[in-house]
Amino acid sequence: MDRQGWKIAWTAAAGAVLVIWSGEWFAGQLVPTTYPGELAFGGADEMPPAVDLAAVQRDWPGSLGGPGEQGRLIAYVGNIERQKPPVTAVPARATTPQPQEADLGTLLASADAAVGKGKARVCTSCHSMDAGGRNGVGPALWGVVGRNIASHGGFAYSPALSAQPGAWTYERLDSYLTSPARAIPGNKMAFAGLRRDEDRAAVIKYLASLSPGAPAFPAPMTSAAGQGAGAQ
Ligand code: HEC
Repeated sequence: MDRQGWKIAWTAAAGAVLVIWSGEWFAGQLVPTTYPGELAFGGADEMPPAVDLAAVQRDWPGSLGGPGEQGRLIAYVGNIERQKPPVTAVPARATTPQPQEADLGTLLASADAAVGKGKARVCTSCHSMDAGGRNGVGPALWGVVGRNIASHGGFAYSPALSAQPGAWTYERLDSYLTSPARAIPGNKMAFAGLRRDEDRAAVIKYLASLSPGAPAFPAPMTSAAGQGAGAQ
C-alpha cells in the first residue's frame, strides 16, 4: 500500500471507531446501564423519592449529562406515572354532573325569560307572540306551552305536525326547538333550531310566561337519585 492508501485506511478505521464509540455513548444515554433512581424506589408500593418535578422539567435536557441525572429523570418519570389517576377513578368522575349535561329542569330553573324574549326575536318573523295574536307564516304562539300540538285555530298545519298526539310539554318543545326537522320529520317550520341548551331553555321559559295554561317546570335533577325519580 502506498502513502495515499494508508491515509485512507487510517481515516476509515478512525471513522469506524468514532462511529461505534459515539453510538455506544448515545445508546447509553437512551438506555442507562445503571439505574440509581431505581434503588430509591424500593417496593412498588413505596412512595417515590422526593423529586422536584418542576426543576427536572426546567433543566431537561440540558442537564442530562450531569452526574446523577439519569436517576433524577427516572424518578421524575416514575413520579409522573404515579400521578396518573387509577382506572377506577374514571367512572366515579363521570357520575358527577357536568355543566353540558344539565337537565331541562335545571336549565329552566336558571333560565331568564327576559333573555329568552331577546333570543325569540328570530321567531317573530314567522310567529306572533301576543295575546290574541294572528297567525303568520307560523301559528300564533301565545299560550303554546301546554296547548295541544297543531291546534291553533285558523292555521293550516302540516300533516306531520297534525299527526303529533298530545300537548306541548317542556320536553317536547326542547326536542322540537333543538332541530325541528329532526324532531318531527316533514313538519314545515323552516327553522334550523336553537343549538345552545341555555338559549333554548330561555326561549321556552319565555314561551311559558306567555302561556297561562303552562304546567309547572320539571324539577331540576340534582343527584343520581333525583335522576331516577325524574325519569319517566
Ligand atoms: C321561517 C318561519 C319560522 C321561524 C323563524 C320559526 N318558526 Fe315556528 N313554526 C313555523 C311554521 C310554519 C310552523 C308550523 C309547522 C307545521 O305545521 O308543520 C311552526 C310551528 C311552531 C310551533 C308549533 C306550534 C303549534 O301550534 O303546535 C312552535 C312551538 C314553534 N313553531 C316555535 C318556534 C320558536 C320558539 C321559534 C324561534 C326560536 C320558531 N318557531 C321559529 C315557522 C317558523
